[in-house]
Amino acid sequence: MKNLKTILVFALPLAVGLFLAASCVSTKVAMKSGAQLWGENCVRCHNTPSPAAYNDTDWETIGLHMRIRANLTAEETRKIVEFLQSAN
Ligand code: HEC
Repeated sequence: MKNLKTILVFALPLAVGLFLAASCVSTKVAMKSGAQLWGENCVRCHNTPSPAAYNDTDWETIGLHMRIRANLTAEETRKIVEFLQSAN
């Protein structure tokens, strides 16, 4: 019984802490704009491509291509592609 209590005392705050940390991270990603995600991710391997460099159709294809390269989520890719298309 004492062991169970000890486990609860340590495990509960840890579980709550992890839950809060996880929801904090997802809120951060959800709040980021396409422009922000573009600036943070697309410059990791090459210069950030200008939104004016390609047309809307090209950006769709490049989005799929770079999503794999940059290991982005569907949501992040959608935001970046929308930002790049809006600037044409
Ligand atoms: C992990 C590295 C990496 C990241 C991150 C990355 N790219 Fe690329 N990118 C490449 C490589 C490598 C190429 C050269 C083509 C190839 O071999 O795939 C490339 C090529 C391109 C091209 C040329 C056209 C094409 O499709 O080949 C464009 C435009 C481009 N990237 C845009 C982006 C955008 C926008 C992002 C952010 C969403 C991004 N890249 C993030 C590695 C990366």
